[in-house]
Formats: sequence, structure tokens, C-alpha cells
Amino acid sequence: MLKLRIIAVFMALFTTLMSAPAAARAAENTKLAAITFDDGPGPYTDELLDGLKELGAHATFFVLGSRAGVYTEIVERITQEGHQLGNHSYSHADLNKLSVDAALKEMTGTDGILYDLAGGGSPFCYRVPYGNSTAALREKLGSPVVLWSVDTLDWKYKDAAQVEKNIKEDIKDGSIILLHDIFSTSVQGALAAIEDLQKEGYEFVTVNELYRRRGAAMEAGMAYYSCPNGGDLGSIPQPEITSRAVEGGREITITGPEGVPIYYTSDGSPIGFDAQKYTGPFTVQEPCTVRAVAAVNLNGSRSGEAEAQFDRPQAFSPAISLEGGKLEFKTAGDGESVYFRVGESGPYRQAQGAAAVKSGSYVCFYAQGENTDPSPVEKVWVSERGTLMADISPDKWYYEAMDLAAQLGYIEPDKSNRYYPDSTISRGELAQIIYRAQGKPGVSGEVPYEDVKSGTEQAKAILWGSRQGIFEGYGDGTFRPDSPLERQELAKILSIWLKVRGVDSEQQDGGAEYLDWAEVSQWARPWVEKMTSMGILEGSGGYFDPRGTLTAAQAVTAVLRCVETVQN
Ligand code: NI
Repeated sequence: MLKLRIIAVFMALFTTLMSAPAAARAAENTKLAAITFDDGPGPYTDELLDGLKELGAHATFFVLGSRAGVYTEIVERITQEGHQLGNHSYSHADLNKLSVDAALKEMTGTDGILYDLAGGGSPFCYRVPYGNSTAALREKLGSPVVLWSVDTLDWKYKDAAQVEKNIKEDIKDGSIILLHDIFSTSVQGALAAIEDLQKEGYEFVTVNELYRRRGAAMEAGMAYYSCPNGGDLGSIPQPEITSRAVEGGREITITGPEGVPIYYTSDGSPIGFDAQKYTGPFTVQEPCTVRAVAAVNLNGSRSGEAEAQFDRPQAFSPAISLEGGKLEFKTAGDGESVYFRVGESGPYRQAQGAAAVKSGSYVCFYAQGENTDPSPVEKVWVSERGTLMADISPDKWYYEAMDLAAQLGYIEPDKSNRYYPDSTISRGELAQIIYRAQGKPGVSGEVPYEDVKSGTEQAKAILWGSRQGIFEGYGDGTFRPDSPLERQELAKILSIWLKVRGVDSEQQDGGAEYLDWAEVSQWARPWVEKMTSMGILEGSGGYFDPRGTLTAAQAVTAVLRCVETVQN
């Protein structure tokens, strides 16, 4: 049998507590301002929306309930183009002159109208008419009250040049600027000012986005005039839409910034407040248009919109195999060709017959037909041993070990040559790896666990290992093959397996001086000590982390160490 030389990769074994580096987004501190329009929608709002679109600026619209019902299409457009929709009461009453109940009705009644028009569950910020509200009213409001720090007096001047000048003179970083889109002069003046101020480094965002980017919270019933500068979290990155051919259509995958919900439509409609929340890949049929945004709040705090149009079917990804140092590609569809390149860059060429490839190469490939769109570009590394690996690159600590384990048949890839090295290993998966490392001994009979279906390789592995005393089930008659394997369980399993293989070294003292020794279960202590003294398991930073889980790569590495121990 092949003599295993497992090299320095083990040095890095069980350094499990690797955390992703903090997403240090170099936040450039741009000047931000929120431009707001009250009393509309009106006959000039459409023109304003056109102008804002052209300038790539977003605004906040505090609309009147009495007008929103008249300009329903404009309300819809506001929500679909990434602006913020807010509530400016129903009839523009001075709320200080009304009873608290009547004032509340002015605001909440308008909420109802806006919900009906815009859909979704996004709460609307309030701008009380004339900035007037009593403490008693604000206490009952379920959203923040947004006032302003720059009053352009646009209603008084009705002069575009004067409005533009007033904005430019008074604006500061964090300003909330008051305007009214029911005057043509206000629309003209605002657009002119935005265009010039953008050149000075201003970015015009909605009120919600202004507070989000500055890391400032807004609370219901509190009044806000301008936003303090608390740094810049940056704009929300636009999501990416990718697809691959599946039976019956295209499977769409949308990826976006971590922790930010994604919303989408797949019928070509714009993304309003009622867009669907993305929960995972879905299948569509061509022709079709998919749109997506990442949004902290669909009401004005969202990324730019990603759009993908699919007019015709997509080619299936070709299968790839390596025979005698040559790559073979196989397409799924008639009349489809495979294009590939070796290396990170350079032109693709059409695959004609088998293609010779050096080990250690990186190969990119896709299929395309006359009537199909290209399949996604697949990437594989061709290892020195001739393993094709799509998700294991040579810079990974486990590259050598996984390559070796694949060659020995301890692990098997899925159809797209993926091994999922970073996935958490389950009890059943470990059983399978050990069974394969044992050379898949024949075994027959019924698996004694109610949750293990007979007939699979995993069932055979569990049956064989249980008979050898290597694996144990639970008192309730289950094996729980899908449960994550604990590190102290691994210690016991490997110890007994080694014993079965005739390796029963005496225990050495002082092999396991872990800082968390007290957390190692009593039953596991001898095994943890033994595996540590034999150099098969080790802790990280002085801790063993007995109840912690392992990745597939870590488990494979430990199994290879055992095999090497047996051979020595
Ligand atoms: Ni007003």
C-alpha cells in the first residue's frame, strides 16, 4: 500500500477558531444631506423624479394623505425608485390646534392610505405640518418625527434661482433640507442645487439612509432636525444575480452584502415595498427579467438595483474529467461547445477532443450553444495527484490532505467536483470516511438504529463500525447521523479505531494540559489524552474545545494521521 507522507499541513491542524477578518470597509467620509419635499405629490413631482434619477440622487417625500390618493402612480414611483415615502398628515392641519386624538387620526389615517398604495410593512416617518406637534401627540406616534435644519422658504420666493441659492448657502453635512414639490420653481431650484453640490462632494440620500450611514438611530416619537456626523457606513452594495441551467429552467441565485436582506421581482416589475424577500435560489423560465436590491429598509435605505434579462435557455455546465493527464469535457445539450482556458487570464478556446493539462493548473470552462446562453464559468484546480477540485485551492492548509484523501477514495466530490472542506462534519460522514479508510469491509445485516436507513454506504459504515465498537448510538435507539460530530467524540472514535487496527500505545502522562480540561466529559478524558499524546489531535491556543465541531478538512486530516500511525 501507498506509503503516506503527510507534510507540514498538519502544523495547521485544528486551528479552528479562525474568524473572518472584520469587514473593515474603508468608510470614506463623504458629505451627506437629505433633501425633502412636503405637501405633494403634485403636477411637478414626475419631473422632479426624472431629474433625481438622472442625477443619481434620492429624496424623501412627505406626502399628504389627501393628495396621495389622487397621485397614486407617483406614490408608486417614489417607492420603486429608491426614495423614501413619508407622512405629512391627511389635510395639512395644524396639529397643535386639534385634540390629541384628532391629530393622531390625521397621521395614522394617512399611514393607512400609504400602506394601501405602497404595500409592504415599511413604517413611514412623520413630518408634522408647520413642524407643530405636542409632546402628548409625539408620545403616541409609532414613528420618528423628521423636521429640518435648512428652511429654503421656497413657498415664499417661488423663484428657482433663489431656492437654489438658499440651499447652497445653508447646506451642511448632515442637513435635512425643507422644500415643496408643489412648486415648479422648487423643483427647478432643487435640481440645479443638487447638480452643483454633487460636484462639491455632496451625496443626496433619503432621511433613513442618512441616519443609517452615519450610524445614528431614530426612535419613534422623537424629533430629528439634522444628523450628526458619526462616520460613514457607506452605501449598501448592489446584489449580484447569477443563474445556472436546471431541469425546467434557470435557477437564480442572488448574492449580496452579509446580513442585509435582499428583495426581488422576477416578473419584470419594479421593486416596490411589496417585493419578495429572497430566501434562497429559485427557478424561472425564459423569457424573464429578474431585479434585485439589498435593503436595510425598502423605504429609502437600499442598494442600487441589479437587473438581469434572460431571453433564452442557458447551457448546462459541462462535466469535466481527467484521464491520463488529459481533460475531457462533456456537454449536456446538443450543439453545445465547451470553451476553456488554463490559468487565471487569457482567451478561452474551444475544446476539441481531450486537452492535455499539467498538474497544478487552474482550469476555467463553460458551455455555450447556438441557442443557449453560456453556462456559468466553472473553475477547477488540477492537483499534482490529478484530483479535480473546484472548492480547494493550493493556498489552503488542507489542500494536500484533501488531495491525498480524494486519491485514496476516503472522500468523494459531488458532480461539480466540490468537496466542501469547510462544512461541519456530521457523525454519519465521519463513519463513512473511516469505513472507506478501512477498505470498505463487507458487512451484512440490519442497522440497529431506527434513524439510519439500510442500503447506503453510510449505513454499511455505521453497521460495520458499531459491530467493531468504534461507533456508538444513543440510549434512545438512534444514531443521529446528521448531528455535528463533537471533538471529544472524535477522540474516542479514533482511539478505538486505532485499537481495532492493532495500535494500542500506552498512554503518556501530561499529554493533555488544556486550559478547558474541566469541560472535557469524564468519559472522553482518557481518549482526549491518548489522541493528544499520540499527536493525532491537538488544541488551539491551549484549548481543546471538547464540545466544538470540526470541519470536513479537519476530520479528514485526523483520519489520515491515524492511517499513517498504523503504517508506521
Ligand atoms: Ni407642509
